[in-house]
Amino acid sequence: MRIPDIAAGAKVLALGHYQPAHVVTNDDLAKTMDTNDEWIQSRVGIKERRVAKDESVEDMATIAGGKALAASGLSPDDVDLVIVATCTLETQIPNAAAVVAHRLGIKSPGAFDVNAACAGFCYALATASAAVRGGAARNVLVIGAEKLSQWVDWTDRSTAVIFADGAGAAVVGPSETPGIGPVVWGSAGDKSEAIEVKDRDSFLHQEGQTVFRWATTALHPVALEACARAGVDPSELAAFVPHQANLRIVEAIARKLGADKAVVARDIVHAGNTSAASIPLALSRMVERGEVSSGGLALVLGFGAGLTYAGQVIEIP
Ligand code: UT7
Repeated sequence: MRIPDIAAGAKVLALGHYQPAHVVTNDDLAKTMDTNDEWIQSRVGIKERRVAKDESVEDMATIAGGKALAASGLSPDDVDLVIVATCTLETQIPNAAAVVAHRLGIKSPGAFDVNAACAGFCYALATASAAVRGGAARNVLVIGAEKLSQWVDWTDRSTAVIFADGAGAAVVGPSETPGIGPVVWGSAGDKSEAIEVKDRDSFLHQEGQTVFRWATTALHPVALEACARAGVDPSELAAFVPHQANLRIVEAIARKLGADKAVVARDIVHAGNTSAASIPLALSRMVERGEVSSGGLALVLGFGAGLTYAGQVIEIP
């Protein structure tokens, strides 16, 4: 048996994102349910969100993935693995990854979806990094894409004001030096009922306070451990990009992390909570706005249903 030449490291080569054009403001929601702009902004931090009208998860994933691929300078032939992190597909079969790969002209890649809910992108990124370093793939297209609007009860104010739609993508390829740090991942299955879609006739249900308490107490040690495993002090971080679940959670973890120089992603204000899409969407928009520089270090941290979590330090492309 022979082991193929393996890459010394893996890194994110490029990013891309897509948001539906349709904007839904808090005042729009207040017209159809008992809520108001003041409550939503003070409790969740959202001013507006994007909701897909005609776009499917696969449509949004294809556009975000195509942009990341174009920005990487690679051709579809250079990609041999596609991973889509999603938990909101309309149908169970087929997976999104094979459909998206076909639409992008990527011929016969490995293709699978990851369902780790809002932590999905970080799980997929860790898997892509391992595949490149282990010789299982040369370049990997990793996409987080969600259409939560089709799983939310639009008369339930406890979820309808929070969740939204969108997609973000990263191309992961080989590198001389490590550009994706070791992942810290785990789960708390004892709380699996805190976020669930019980069956095919049900909508998403969330025990908000249970998840809020967990997120604000259990996750900063994960963030610190991801930094420690990468040999990075939080003070060296240029960006902190946690899952955009709730602005109060983002700020609570950021405070405990003590990453004083880091730009903290607050994408939720205009994008809402887009589950597995929120991290690549926020990071891609941050790079596009020029808020962070190429080569800087970003800590990404996903968490959500399962309950699952995962985080790692990455070099910004
Ligand atoms: O992305 C996956 C991971 N998910 C998360 O991390 C979510 C974590 N949880 C949260 O972000 C928060 O718990 C929520 C945003 C979901 C809810 O905020 P909260 O501060 O925990 O509010 P609550 O559920 O304790 O509700 C407080 C009050 C209640 O009224 P009473 O019983 O005090 O009279 C609710 O009925 O606010 C009421 N309420 C609302 N009022 C206006 C709940 N939703 C709304 C609403 N508008 N949309």
